[in-house]
Amino acid sequence: MIQAPLSFRKLREDLPLTRRLAYFQTGSYGPTPDSVLKVVAETMAFQSRHGSASPRVTGVLMDQEHRVRQQLAEFLGVRPEHLAWTSNTSQAMQRVLRSVDWRAGDEIVVSSAEHVSTQDACRALERHRGVVIRTFPAEAGDDALLSGLEAALRGRARLVCLSDVSTLDGRKLPAREAARLARSRGVPLMLDGAQAVGQFPVEIPALDCDYYIASGHKWLLGPLGVGFLWVSPDRLDRFRPDFIPDASTWLKPGDPRPPVTAALRTELGTHNYALRIGLGRALEIMEALGPGRIERYVQDLVQLLFHELEDRPGIRIVTPAGPGLASGLVALELKDLTEIELRNLIEDLLKRGIVVKYQPERPALRVSVAAFNTQEEIRRLVDALDTLT
Ligand SMILES: Cc1ncc(COP(=O)(O)O)c(C=O)c1O
Repeated sequence: MIQAPLSFRKLREDLPLTRRLAYFQTGSYGPTPDSVLKVVAETMAFQSRHGSASPRVTGVLMDQEHRVRQQLAEFLGVRPEHLAWTSNTSQAMQRVLRSVDWRAGDEIVVSSAEHVSTQDACRALERHRGVVIRTFPAEAGDDALLSGLEAALRGRARLVCLSDVSTLDGRKLPAREAARLARSRGVPLMLDGAQAVGQFPVEIPALDCDYYIASGHKWLLGPLGVGFLWVSPDRLDRFRPDFIPDASTWLKPGDPRPPVTAALRTELGTHNYALRIGLGRALEIMEALGPGRIERYVQDLVQLLFHELEDRPGIRIVTPAGPGLASGLVALELKDLTEIELRNLIEDLLKRGIVVKYQPERPALRVSVAAFNTQEEIRRLVDALDTLT
């Protein structure tokens, strides 16, 4: 157990990368703390030395994994039987899309801010199943988003896909209101929380959605390769992604059927226990920092970034600064730079030990401000932008 509250300085000590880099790329992959890597390595060594498939070892690993599922469930305010492990957000999204019995002419309703993996999956549905994609606007404010969604729900909508926080500019989207709207039309809604979980407190039941998906390797600082899917209790019976064998495959006639869980309907094949158990350590760190404290700390840094960039005529801050709108993900447009120049700028920043993302959609710089970043790093970034542009 880690002593709470954990200081943000102590977190940096667990992240050797912070000694070399000002890392603003947590929206893609968060760095993995050494203490998380240690749990992963020790678990794999235990498996290897004692025989992964020996019943005693499997029992220990299953217990530990179960505890992490419970820990994650508590972190999100849900029940463990409604949570399933995946490798990442994209795989969780795919399970949800595969759980709909699509017919030609059915409609999938997607916000314009959805991640490219969701957009690609929708295009595959369009190509292979004749599904119609209805896009509603996410970048023009909450009112436009909700009225666009309302209009898109008038046809043969079977599923709505919306991000909790936009991957493009870090704006918090009106998830709860959208879920209410979709529910009033009887259409299930999948919320993509890849850019939300670990950034601020997420209480899934308060969002009233049908599915919630996210990754462990971004803001939660978990090891690469673990994601999850939450299925609402009232959807679970109908949630049957295709090509997932049912537990009945293993049952003999007369055996009692196990209770339906999200795991039973999602998880498939051999997996790496060590990663899930490592995520447990990352969740301990999150709990010791406190999601509410993380949010306040990150917001102070983000407001500092906004303030420092205020009078730079060449830089447009795409992310709205208003209360409740900005997260730790900030998109910056550099008005006078071509796409090539912007890519070169990212290389030049890297030479100075500063890591940011090239956001091709706009194009823009995407800066992820996380719990381990500091005021000094924000000033270093602003100074480097001043010198290099
Ligand atoms: C909103 C959103 N959804 C999904 C993803 C894909 O995440 P993963 O690579 O873990 O599947 C990302 C990645 O940046 C994202 O920002």
